[in-house]
Amino acid sequence: METVLSGIRPTGNLHLGNYFGAVQSFIKLQHEYNCFFFIADWHSLTTHPKPENIRKSAKTILAEYLACGIDPEKATIYVQSDVHEVLELYLYLNMNAYLGELERVTSFKEKVRQQPDNINAGLLTYPTLMAADIIIHKANKVPVGKDQEQNMEMARKFARRFNTMYGVEYFPEPASFHLSEKAVKVPGLDGSGKMGKSEGNAIYLVDDEKTIKKKVMKAVTDAGPTEPNSEKSEPIANLFTMLEIVSSKETYDYFNEKYNDCSIRYGDLKKQLAEDINAFCTPIREHILEISADDAYMNKVARIGAEKATESASKTIREVREIIGFRP
Ligand code: ADP
Ligand code: TRP
Repeated sequence: METVLSGIRPTGNLHLGNYFGAVQSFIKLQHEYNCFFFIADWHSLTTHPKPENIRKSAKTILAEYLACGIDPEKATIYVQSDVHEVLELYLYLNMNAYLGELERVTSFKEKVRQQPDNINAGLLTYPTLMAADIIIHKANKVPVGKDQEQNMEMARKFARRFNTMYGVEYFPEPASFHLSEKAVKVPGLDGSGKMGKSEGNAIYLVDDEKTIKKKVMKAVTDAGPTEPNSEKSEPIANLFTMLEIVSSKETYDYFNEKYNDCSIRYGDLKKQLAEDINAFCTPIREHILEISADDAYMNKVARIGAEKATESASKTIREVREIIGFRP
């Protein structure tokens, strides 16, 4: 069975973009592949060397993944810093990673601009740690967005280089896995673009009903259609995309018809949308709160995940040591 691996930096709560763009697919993938879902807490240190409360941030994502339906009995869900074996592979890969190629990585150059006072070696070697994360489990497929494509190319390069360097066919080249067409781009409700944490327009899975309603009622609209069947402006198209994602087909068709015959009232649409987003989020939110309050369960899941991931990682490290010539 092929192995799928996904990593997420613990930078906050999950929002609807994360859910429909990624997590929803993970829930399906866990039945079809050997899945590893991990929380990249070490990677956070590249930008936040003194993290506020890194354990809490990791715990937040863990609880949210579980509440969404990632099943710790099916998938291996773990925290990066619980699996020390990755560090050894990171070291080996770094010995064959060259300054020039690391400096050319776009996200490194971006970070150099963003944090000129903290251009640390961890930032430079971000792609080798990410490659180690991936190949330590010999992952075949990695679901990533476009922004991670260069890191994925580096991971393939480092896997190939290891094989060539030591004359083995050991690491498979991890392919970027573009989630099925069903993984939609969730729009923001502020007029244009996508929903995102950094965009400041996110609706979070833990938002309560009032917050969600407030966010939706504030959505940007336009002056309304003036002639039948006119094309929708971007803010309106975005509202309809959200309806398509969370509402029933009847609801979508109802408002679409109203738009097309120019009788639509955006206030009604938003009210319905808020209701439908709440119908979707409320059970998940309740589940998140329930799970994160259950320390015993959370600890157990983290421990089992760490054990399963360590088992897989230490097998690789034993073999890699043997290949390079160290004591296995
Ligand atoms: P954020 O935009 O909040 O920083 P990340 O960049 O950490 O989110 O994304 C984590 C995952 O969620 C990625 O797989 C990304 O493709 C997905 N994702 C984030 N926002 C959206 C969105 N608006 N639509 C679809 N997928 C999204
Ligand atoms: N770099 C990824 C991001 O910023 C997070 C990440 C770290 C990752 N290691 C990974 C993703 C391994 C996939 C595989 O989103």
